[in-house]
Amino acid sequence: MSTPRRGVLVTGASRGIGAAVARRLAAHGDRVAVHHRASRERAEEVLASLDGDGHVVVGGDIGDPAAVPSMVATAADALGRIDVLVNNAALYTEPAPGGHRRLGHPLDATPYEEWVAAWRRTVDVNLLGTANVTWCVARHMLDVDPEPGAPRGRIVNVGSRGAFRGEPDVPAYGAAKAGVHALGQSLALALGEHGIAVSSVAPGFVATDMAAEHLEGPGGDALRAQSPFGRVAAPEEVAAAVAYLASAEAEWASGAVLDLNGASHLR
Ligand SMILES: NC(=O)c1ccc[n+]([C@@H]2O[C@H](COP(=O)([O-])OP(=O)(O)OC[C@H]3O[C@@H](n4cnc5c(N)ncnc54)[C@H](OP(=O)(O)O)[C@@H]3O)[C@@H](O)[C@H]2O)c1
Repeated sequence: MSTPRRGVLVTGASRGIGAAVARRLAAHGDRVAVHHRASRERAEEVLASLDGDGHVVVGGDIGDPAAVPSMVATAADALGRIDVLVNNAALYTEPAPGGHRRLGHPLDATPYEEWVAAWRRTVDVNLLGTANVTWCVARHMLDVDPEPGAPRGRIVNVGSRGAFRGEPDVPAYGAAKAGVHALGQSLALALGEHGIAVSSVAPGFVATDMAAEHLEGPGGDALRAQSPFGRVAAPEEVAAAVAYLASAEAEWASGAVLDLNGASHLR
């Protein structure tokens, strides 16, 4: 059984998978800090859609190490205690000035300066940002006791199939996600003795803003055909797995990297 009224921080919950996770956990009775970077209005809309009460919106660019401690402190103050961290926020490609997303940084078509910048920003947000949010929340979990009988903490990372299958157009994304999986496994070993379980999910394509350009483009059918089910995931399917990994009974899944890709990539 999960602890009633847990405090949960979901990074990148203003849309997509993070919003679905926030809704799922709120429906379960948790109090959720809905984190966003720039989309405060969308985060407020997610907040308004959540079941129950005691939820809060927190903002901040996780790629900025100086912004992370105050974001986590704001969430912890509002929730009282953070029992669950869902490290979901990430970028695939940074939106270009003017709105549309760049195609990525395929090695054979990317000037060196752009290559360096893409790797820097992707690793800053997806890997270092995740590590820094995790440090702040795990430190809080260690310092503030949970309710009697409740686990000290659960940390669930949203990784990616791309870490295993390769990301030829966005290699920094694939590499950073591989790092996220490895971070989760190292911390599963480091934090287990404290009663904190750490795991990751590795989704294939999911129908969100992040994947929209690919799924709605001319190659969309081929992407759907990667799975024998002939489709991509809904955000709610990823949220269901995250909810399990965040539960008290999932302690023995600590260290796992759970494939969620509709058999589109078997390893
Ligand atoms: N969609 C897929 O096909 C897919 C597949 C595998 C894995 N994933 C992973 O699933 C997770 C969620 O993806 P999604 O598809 O739901 O993405 P999305 O729709 O693009 O949403 C991304 C979320 O992350 C936040 N975010 C982005 N950059 C940030 C930064 N620098 N600092 C703080 N927050 C930031 C965004 O906040 P704002 O709204 O304020 O910008 C937004 O809430 C990511 O880790 C992604 O890598 C997605």
